[in-house]
Amino acid sequence: MAEPRTSVEPALRLRDLTVTFGGAHPVRAVDGVDLDVHPGRVLAIVGESGSGKSATALASIGLLPGSAEVTGSATVAGVDLVTAAESQRVPLRGSSIAMVFQDALAALNPYRTIGRQISDAYRLHHRVDKTAARKRAVEVLDRVGIRDPERRVDDYPHEFSGGMRQRAMIATAIVNNPTVLIADEPTTALDVTVQQQVLDLLTGLTDDLGMALVLITHDLGVVAETADDIAVMYAGRIVETGTVLDVFDHTAHPYTRALLQATPNLDAPSRRLAAIPGVPASGANRPTGCAFHPRCPFAEQVGEACQTVDPHLTPRPGSALHRAACHFTAEQELPHV
Ligand SMILES: Nc1ncnc2c1ncn2[C@@H]1O[C@H](COP(=O)(O)OP(=O)(O)OP(=O)(O)O)[C@@H](O)[C@H]1O
Ligand code: SF4
Ligand SMILES: [Mg+2]
Repeated sequence: MAEPRTSVEPALRLRDLTVTFGGAHPVRAVDGVDLDVHPGRVLAIVGESGSGKSATALASIGLLPGSAEVTGSATVAGVDLVTAAESQRVPLRGSSIAMVFQDALAALNPYRTIGRQISDAYRLHHRVDKTAARKRAVEVLDRVGIRDPERRVDDYPHEFSGGMRQRAMIATAIVNNPTVLIADEPTTALDVTVQQQVLDLLTGLTDDLGMALVLITHDLGVVAETADDIAVMYAGRIVETGTVLDVFDHTAHPYTRALLQATPNLDAPSRRLAAIPGVPASGANRPTGCAFHPRCPFAEQVGEACQTVDPHLTPRPGSALHRAACHFTAEQELPHV
């Protein structure tokens, strides 16, 4: 695991990032997210379905549909992708910040060879001829562990297995050596052994290329093995963040505690979140006060504040980087279980 690098300029900096989907009933999908992602480090974003993980990622790379109103900032290479004109964003997308999408396996074009798709991504940012771009495609396919890349570069997506297609998507995302890679649930559709290989690939790339990796996942076992830092999202907000060691060993938010308890064995091969009691809140049905209060086992003990006062992220004693938004743990530690 990389050492915390607080003094280094983050590769991606989110400040007060807010995403609202319009319509008759506007949904605040992301609500004031602040995050720094540093070169060579892996930040995991976790949370239940609908908590705003993908919307945060898509806003960071400037790829949300026009129906979404985005405010705040997402700064990469000195450019705020929220306010930048599309003409400024395009050169950065792929070269400075790239993304492996949640439905990556469906994102490959079935009618174009794998090599053509990687070459096209390369030629968006490099003035090279087709031969040089194909050579680069072979190189990155080799880097992501595709055997016999010289031959496989001319295959169509249906000739690749699911794991190989995911590697091809990662190859497309890294072909321009981005400084930030966002991988949205990159292993969910894969079987367990292939999952591990893809995670090893992603962390290897982070180390070798000095990329900052944002890994969106439901799987806390993956977080434990792979990530340096973690941000736990609930109803569009970060409710706890810090290094994985701090957050797992000194959990300071009852929701994080519930997620950890819903993952009975962090070392077991299949670790999708078990359900935690109660109905998840989202931007569409955000309870007053602390959004977690209808499900929180500590809310009664705290009293009215949980239902009426919005808790803010505050630093935990001993670590400025470890922050949690909870009235209970602002005063005391969570009891041991
Ligand atoms: N294009 C859209 N239009 C309207 N609402 C949307 C759109 N995309 C997402 N939402 C809403 O925004 C909220 C956050 O969605 P998001 O996709 O970011 O969740 P997520 O944490 O990635 O969930 P999952 O784990 O299921 O992928 C949800 O309430 C979702 O219904
Ligand atoms: S603020 Fe209250 S309801 Fe929210 S997590 Fe803390 S104790 Fe629970
Ligand atoms: Mg998602």
